[in-house]
Amino acid sequence: MKKTIRDLDLSGKNVLVRVDFNVPLKDGVVKDNNRIKEAIPTIKYLMNQGAKVVLCSHLGKVDHKDPDKCEADKKKNDMKYVLPVLEELLGSEVCYVDEVCGSKVIDALNNLSDGGVMLVQNTRYEKGESKNDPELAKEMAKNIDVFVMDAFGSAHRAHASTYGVPELLNNEGKETAIGFLMEREIEALSKCVEADEHPYVAVLGGAKVSDKIKVIEGLLDKADKIIIGGAMAYTFLKAKGVEVGKSLVEDEQLEFASKCLEKGKDKIILPIDHIVSFAFEGEEYMPTINENIPDLFIGLDIGPRTREYFAKELANAKIVFWNGPMGVFENPSFAEGTKSVCESIAKLEKAFSVIGGGDSASAAKELGYKERFSHVSTGGGASLEMIENNGSLPGIDIIQNKK
Ligand code: 3PG
Repeated sequence: MKKTIRDLDLSGKNVLVRVDFNVPLKDGVVKDNNRIKEAIPTIKYLMNQGAKVVLCSHLGKVDHKDPDKCEADKKKNDMKYVLPVLEELLGSEVCYVDEVCGSKVIDALNNLSDGGVMLVQNTRYEKGESKNDPELAKEMAKNIDVFVMDAFGSAHRAHASTYGVPELLNNEGKETAIGFLMEREIEALSKCVEADEHPYVAVLGGAKVSDKIKVIEGLLDKADKIIIGGAMAYTFLKAKGVEVGKSLVEDEQLEFASKCLEKGKDKIILPIDHIVSFAFEGEEYMPTINENIPDLFIGLDIGPRTREYFAKELANAKIVFWNGPMGVFENPSFAEGTKSVCESIAKLEKAFSVIGGGDSASAAKELGYKERFSHVSTGGGASLEMIENNGSLPGIDIIQNKK
């Protein structure tokens, strides 16, 4: 069991909290505040305990190889855009420092009163962040008494802010702990890792098999059924010898798909019909008569018979893990498959249902079903890796255990 913030004496302490404020931005405006909202209980608790709270996070990517690109990325991913949303959700003023570490941060921390909060610049402004540079970790840990990990979405990254800093504090005999968001995520995802209840049904979608190879391998040993939709399904269908027309296929993954189909003969469930069109953004579309996709057509969603088939496979599930849409759901013509899977899971009364972040979480929210799931994770990549690695993630493992 990991040490949590409830186990700590925080009054007057300088507490560095790694949050995941990697939120979608458009022209400097936060498009989805969910990750910030989910971090609020931890921040409020720390404030109420009288800690001096320093929040840090990455935001988007910053390419340090190309100087022009680096400047453009920094401009686009400036943490200052998150500040007004954070202040509104928190209902308090937050001191903002446009540096990740160094004298400006230390001065601001010295001026912070007990219960005060400050936010520092995007950690990826620093070249050493993604490389877990020990020098950067040392700078970030300066004057810090306690490290709190509450960035589940980034816990699969062993970066300076998620790994280097807590490692350093552990070595210095200081305390490291998880926040409330991490605690909830670990509890929910552990159920999908431990797989103690059956039937356990996993639903995987999205475009790429290569993104989900390891989780498919992991799930073959844990789940009773693995439902595969989205463009991923076409690679599996092609490996089975089914006609897939012009649909997206990862030819280099055909061998892997064949092996999975052999190993998971009775486990892997594939679409039996599709919604197809002549073009990706096609305005004209139609269902196929069976699992084959005629020449010149592209599969863009699961078909009506597949929706029923998947719903039946889900009907008695006790644990459901869902990651990835069933079709090009941004286009309403190809959103029915994702909607129907979402509905089928949402109406299960006895199942423990988990959405593994990303597009599926957005879909559930848009469709108004978010509250019907047992848990909606804030981390797509992190929840997949947690299942792949049997519950282990660098950003969790490095935090101290309860005594
Ligand atoms: C995410 O959005 O999945 C996390 O914040 C991790 O972001 P990253 O893939 O850029 O490391």
